[in-house]
Amino acid sequence: MSEKDHTPGDPLSEAAKLIEFVPENFFKRVPMEELFPRTAPLEVDIGCGEGAFIAAMAERHSERNFLGIERLLGRVNTVSRIAAHRRLTNVRVMRVESAYVVEHLLPPGSVSVAHVLFPDPWPKRYHHPRRLVQDAFMVALHGLLGPGGELRAKTDDLPYFQWMEKVFAKAAGFERVEWPEEADAPVTNFERRFLNKGLPIYRARLRKI
Ligand SMILES: C[S@@+](CC[C@H](N)C(=O)[O-])C[C@H]1O[C@@H](n2cnc3c(N)ncnc32)[C@H](O)[C@@H]1O
Repeated sequence: MSEKDHTPGDPLSEAAKLIEFVPENFFKRVPMEELFPRTAPLEVDIGCGEGAFIAAMAERHSERNFLGIERLLGRVNTVSRIAAHRRLTNVRVMRVESAYVVEHLLPPGSVSVAHVLFPDPWPKRYHHPRRLVQDAFMVALHGLLGPGGELRAKTDDLPYFQWMEKVFAKAAGFERVEWPEEADAPVTNFERRFLNKGLPIYRARLRKI
């Protein structure tokens, strides 16, 4: 949380400041005990946006730890405030480029589930290299996931989903698994908008083998 958004002395603001995680050293992998004092399965929400999903998941699964990764300061602050307001001790949020976190900051084998939910679709062909889901991302993610770890991806954008499916089909060390609908599963902020408009949502679940 930036000083601009931080109100010293305000209890919610002080608590929110503790939710944001700023690595001490950006050139070393983050020791897990610095992120969470408690050892528990770690789920990462890559591009967590305003945090409706991560907060709902953290409330529902207090036995797990949740790390949001988000590059926009305003959204990081929103997630931090929601988590502080709900007294969620199992949530942290990091304001760092997601590919950098996956490739360089988290220790190998440290993640049990990686959520990639409604990533920016970058529809123009010359912007496709900016898409998060790429061959190199899958290699890095494979290293990050522990045994049996999962990637859960959703998008409303069919061309991006078709792109993802091609990348997933080529990704070594993963198998595609069924993802049955769960009636009351937590939804993201973007997902809520798409569901309200009755738009289709495409999803894929992969397991590390
Ligand atoms: C379309 S929004 C979806 C947000 C959220 N997952 C949801 O479904 O409501 C994509 C989010 O990813 C974030 N984002 C995009 N590129 C990123 C990057 N390279 N590193 C971190 N966050 C990124 C954006 O700032 C944005 O909040």
